[in-house]
Amino acid sequence: MTLVVNDRRRRVEVDPATPLLWVLRETLGLTGTKFGCGEGLCGACTVHLDGEAVNSCTISVGDVGRRRVSTIEGTGGRVAGAVRESWLALDAAECGYCQPGQMMAATALLTAKPRPSDEDIDGALRGNLCRCGIYDRIRAAVHQAAE
Ligand code: FES
Repeated sequence: MTLVVNDRRRRVEVDPATPLLWVLRETLGLTGTKFGCGEGLCGACTVHLDGEAVNSCTISVGDVGRRRVSTIEGTGGRVAGAVRESWLALDAAECGYCQPGQMMAATALLTAKPRPSDEDIDGALRGNLCRCGIYDRIRAAVHQAAE
């Protein structure tokens, strides 16, 4: 089947039932998308499908269809750039494992809602767990990226 990943058409020979996460990491080598729980509970595997943040571990590659897949390696543009800059400026990472997923969720939020409230941020990133517990810094980074 053919996928559009980070604006490139990619041909993959896999079982359509394979989770998108495995195809991204194992077949296409895009290891910026992380495996955490594999059950849709942690958000480490967050990617965009047509700009919407989704857990790639719970979507079969065969269900992606014609939707465009974006991973942390392929994010570009003003919003994603602002997210990267604010993450660095505010040091919004400890161990860093959850950060690609957090940043993908933040980018989707800021694209849909350029001036989010604390509640908006908490709601949009609710599914992205940080085992280091730095949610305040992550929230502050999202606000700074919005400025
Ligand atoms: Fe997909 Fe945890 S690895 S939600």
